[in-house]
Amino acid sequence: MITRRLFRWFDDRLGAASFARSALNKVFPDNWTFMFVEIAMYCFLILILTGIYLTFFFVPSSHPIIYTGSYAPFRGLPVSEAYGSALRISFDVRAGLVMRQMHHWAANVFLAAIVVHLARVFFTGAFRKPREINWLIGVTLLLLAMANGFTGYSLPDDLLSGTGLRIFYSLTLSIPFVGTWLAFLFFGGEFPSHDILSRLFVLHVLIVPALLLGLFSVHLALIWHQKHTQFPTAGRTETNVVGSRFWPSYAMRSIGLLFAIAAVLGVLGGLAQINPVWLYGPFNASAVTSPAQPDWYLGWLEGALRIFPPWEIRAFGHTLAEPFFPAIVMPSITFGVLYAWPFLEQAVTKDRAHHNLLDRPHDRPVRTAIGATALAFYGLLLLAGSNDVAARIFHLPVSAVTRGFQILVLVVPLLVGFVVHRLMRGYARSRAERFMEVPFGAFLGRPVEARGKAVTATDGRPTATASAPPAPALGDPAPGDGLEE
Ligand code: HEM
Repeated sequence: MITRRLFRWFDDRLGAASFARSALNKVFPDNWTFMFVEIAMYCFLILILTGIYLTFFFVPSSHPIIYTGSYAPFRGLPVSEAYGSALRISFDVRAGLVMRQMHHWAANVFLAAIVVHLARVFFTGAFRKPREINWLIGVTLLLLAMANGFTGYSLPDDLLSGTGLRIFYSLTLSIPFVGTWLAFLFFGGEFPSHDILSRLFVLHVLIVPALLLGLFSVHLALIWHQKHTQFPTAGRTETNVVGSRFWPSYAMRSIGLLFAIAAVLGVLGGLAQINPVWLYGPFNASAVTSPAQPDWYLGWLEGALRIFPPWEIRAFGHTLAEPFFPAIVMPSITFGVLYAWPFLEQAVTKDRAHHNLLDRPHDRPVRTAIGATALAFYGLLLLAGSNDVAARIFHLPVSAVTRGFQILVLVVPLLVGFVVHRLMRGYARSRAERFMEVPFGAFLGRPVEARGKAVTATDGRPTATASAPPAPALGDPAPGDGLEE
């Protein structure tokens, strides 16, 4: 009774009831491939919660102290305040190690969910008009998440993170003309500087998470406003959405997913060791850990650095240093192409129609083959980032493994692209032939157009009217349809 009166009180003032009703009735398509964005969202929530806990104890300072904590091998030795506090969190703070490890695992799963989500959007053409803006936001989210992962694992000031920072410093130096200025500006002096940890800390706990939160909110608001895409199965058209209502079925499942993710990350944080900074030791400018790998989402950059030939160009009194090509040019091209993809595809296919129905990968063999080529290329670079580990496992010289990867990254992705293209074309053709054998198959292939039709939930109750703009029915040839032409 009291809650009812309270709701009425708010509704009289804010008029929120009709908005809440339509929001709760909103229909979401049920397809497991749409789950990854939720996994990313819940990992981000766990990153914020565990991160806040860590912030109570972590000291972002390279000021030297004598370690007096309970990890015996370092007792009485000089370490930085940052490294000392990371040891304190790991050995002396209640639940500190679980929180640190949960935080680190959540970062890895967060990035994995974003990458898989991006791949799903790419391979199903969900970035096509009218969703190009959300694609641009998504690519920016990926960049920011990678940046926050890097700033995060650089904070504890251990030997591995110091090695990563030194690489980052050298890469910045390699940028022609402005590199030295940028490096000094960012680090506040020559490496290893005193200011870098406090700067990374502000970026890590405040600036980048705030940007991520803001962009995530816009991303979700746009999904809500433009409505979900859906796969072109029976009953789904360009102008309706078939699935479950937000309340209760979709919301309940989503909350279940949140608990499942929290449980999995809790188990990983409690049982699976990650980033044992006490084994690496404190940062020392003259030493390096071996083997030394970054978190997986930066492994492709590490791999590119390790296998790129030692080319250095000197011209007009300037040097283009070796790391410039693999670590500045290659990632710039990667993200440049990612940002431009919807517009590049539009320019080639001349397809400027609205799309609410998704492609299946075999509908667009050329796009699928390009995506598979890219995945093979970056996957191999990721493996090449462990050339030292591979050399140890296979009892080979590191130089031989490096040469092997130099050949593999040029050959394998092209082969993968070729094979995937053939498979997709063959599959699409065999489906079409099988479909035509079904009586009236050709007729069934063109679903009845349902422009402006009521949005349908799986329980059959009509809800809001879809407001999607007129779009061609499934099977209508779009102008210049398909990249393969
Ligand atoms: C996208 C979001 C985030 C990512 C990807 C991320 C990632 C990471 C990673 C990989 C580490 C290294 C953990 C380790 O030592 O093993 C770290 C450390 C840390 N993070 Fe985050 N984090 C994020 C958000 C946050 C937020 C929002 C906060 C605070 C409000 C935070 C606070 C911290 C602190 C204090 C540390 C240092 C603790 C330590 O390493 O012992 N993080 N982060």
